Amino acid sequence: MGRCFCAAFQMAGGEIWKASGDILLPKQVISAGDLSMIHSGRHFLQIPGPTNVPDRVLRAMHQPVMDHRGPEFSRLGLEVLENLRPIFQTSGPVIIYPGSGTGAWEAALVNTLSPGDRVLMFDTGHFSNLWRQVAERFGIQVEYVPGNWRSGVSAKDVAEQLNADRDHTFKAVIVVHNETSTGVTNRIPEIRQALNQERHPALLMVDTVSSLGAIDYRHEEWGVDVSVGASQKGLMMPPGLSFNAISEKALAANKTAKLPRSYWDWQEMLTQNRAGFFTYTPATTLLYGLREALAMLQEEGLSNVFLRHDRLAEATRAAVRTWGLEIVCENPQKYSSALTAVFVPEGHNADLVRKVILDAFDMSLGAGLSKLAGKVFRIGHLGSFNDLMLAGTLSGVEMGLQLAGVPHRSGGVTAALQYLTQTKYEAAATVR
Ligand SMILES: Cc1ncc(COP(=O)(O)O)c(C=O)c1O
Repeated sequence: MGRCFCAAFQMAGGEIWKASGDILLPKQVISAGDLSMIHSGRHFLQIPGPTNVPDRVLRAMHQPVMDHRGPEFSRLGLEVLENLRPIFQTSGPVIIYPGSGTGAWEAALVNTLSPGDRVLMFDTGHFSNLWRQVAERFGIQVEYVPGNWRSGVSAKDVAEQLNADRDHTFKAVIVVHNETSTGVTNRIPEIRQALNQERHPALLMVDTVSSLGAIDYRHEEWGVDVSVGASQKGLMMPPGLSFNAISEKALAANKTAKLPRSYWDWQEMLTQNRAGFFTYTPATTLLYGLREALAMLQEEGLSNVFLRHDRLAEATRAAVRTWGLEIVCENPQKYSSALTAVFVPEGHNADLVRKVILDAFDMSLGAGLSKLAGKVFRIGHLGSFNDLMLAGTLSGVEMGLQLAGVPHRSGGVTAALQYLTQTKYEAAATVR
């Protein structure tokens, strides 16, 4: 149970205002008894990661800490290192770091590049920008192609940039697969095709932090050289682990890359990994959880996991359309199956909507990031998630829109339920 205390509200000149600021609140919010209440039942964690950790994974981690240089650990290490490969859809090595996705970004760069190297990146949102900043801090020259955040990377732009780079000065093309700040999923095969068509030798590096285990992602088939992942989203794990999946070409680049590296160095880690061990103390308890999470994904079947996410995402969009609100992603071919980012109408504050929903219904939604702050809320529908959890999530949003006085049409939840009902047997047929 958690107790939440909200800002007090007061009446002013016949209108109702939030005591602390200038945001007009509707009467319903006030009559909810200032929304200070004790919540029971589970908190709804519907941010786009960290996501809900299944009880099975929590129980798997509820064990004594083991000797990380002993034989039992070696078996665990070998097992998780092996079972991560199908998740990235690669037969090559995957490195596991005790660290967050930001660390794995850094690892990808310092293991393959040298100071002053040029790389090509695209302004697709908050996370492409953060990765660019990491690169720049290491003295990498980033050609950052402008974008509007609603449409992702254009393969045409990639081809044009590479075509103009006759001397092959770009050492890497760096892209975020699923932009968690916008809900736009970039089409990696088209980017690979642009590299091939221009016969450009640059490495391809892709951030899969919020797509791994949620949206189809094929490291090997798509010719990705370094894929960056993390544990806390599609993998249904707590935060704390991050990954680099590596191609042969990236391993070759590693041999000549001059950027300084120590903690993130691939070579020593790959040597130790052969026997299931790590360069330094691994996050032993999280690895128990990872073993269980990978088993769950394998039992469901990766293609069914992706279909489940696709279907829940489409149901979410059915609700948003019925509410009459605007989805941030403007290209239906790039809709994210992991999250949906939604604009609130002009003159309304998305953070207030999120606050009302948290206070009234104990549900966390993702905030708008950087230039989308206050304009957008993000519904996470990835990880350990099902039809009824989505029904609860969308109900919370619909009630919250009403309580926060955001103009919308009712019936969004009904539209989502209809879609879920209509497609239930199709989904079941796929699973069988
Ligand atoms: C697409 C993407 N890349 C990178 C990151 C950074 O990962 P972390 O916060 O684990 O460092 C995030 C975090 O949400 C993300 O969504």
